[in-house]
Amino acid sequence: MAGARRWKGWPAGTQRPGYAGPMQTDEILNRAAGRLASAESVAILTGAGVSAESGVPTFRGHGGLWEGRRPEQLASPEAFARSPEDVWRFYLWRRDLLAGLRPNPGHRILARWQDRFPGFRLITQNVDGLHQAAGSREVLELHGSLWRVRCTGCGVETETREVLPGPIPTCQDCGAALRPAVVWFGEVLPEPVLRAALEAARDCDLFLCIGTSSLVHPAAGLAWEARQSGAVLIEINLEATPLTRSAHIALQGPAGEILPDLDRRIP
Ligand code: OAD
Repeated sequence: MAGARRWKGWPAGTQRPGYAGPMQTDEILNRAAGRLASAESVAILTGAGVSAESGVPTFRGHGGLWEGRRPEQLASPEAFARSPEDVWRFYLWRRDLLAGLRPNPGHRILARWQDRFPGFRLITQNVDGLHQAAGSREVLELHGSLWRVRCTGCGVETETREVLPGPIPTCQDCGAALRPAVVWFGEVLPEPVLRAALEAARDCDLFLCIGTSSLVHPAAGLAWEARQSGAVLIEINLEATPLTRSAHIALQGPAGEILPDLDRRIP
């Protein structure tokens, strides 16, 4: 198992009971692959970690700061009301960064799995569009998309990959300021998307949580919903999260290596 064997293991004293250990064993990876193979419906929740190997900074890892500020300080309606220029500078920078990034093997495996598993649902907290770039269809984007903008005047939402004119892009129809169509702190998630994600979590018999710190709700609650409904819960992450102890199988390591490895092992 090339990828996971490169994993250096936990820093001393941080290893959690219930883990496979600092190195994945073949046994635990085969067990996870076997569970996937026998699943009738698979739901997957991804977080920033799935895009880390494409070069997208995670929120709570190194590189999560922008000009010394945490994303939370810019991703809020209050920040936008105070200084839309500042908030747009951050989002224009993120769009520019993302425009040059490509999906990694983890994204590509998940795109392949949509045709491999019956009842497959892909839910993401990411706004980067990399799942779709890898070929995933009908992705449930809980936190919206960086590639969509919404008019603060007429409310019209548009998808655009063009370089937007700063400092504050404006609506071509009504002239009001545009905002990124992402969910900010203090805002509610799009109701139909959240409902579909909850249904997927409750109806699946295997729930796979990949590259998320499992700290931000309601997304983090989906794994618990799935487990309470009887699903097998598998986690892939570089480190322990609040979910780890409740996972039936916790795989440590980079998603871009573990997912292709799992895929090869699925009988
Ligand atoms: P975080 O930055 O909170 O967590 C990223 C997780 O990915 C951590 O648990 C890392 O250990 C793990 N990770 C990093 N690299 C990895 C890799 N190569 N393979 C596997 N795991 C890896 O990001 P999220 O959990 O996605 O919300 O954050 C959730 C939400 O918080 C975001 O969607 C955003 C933010 O505030 C909004 O913008 C509304």
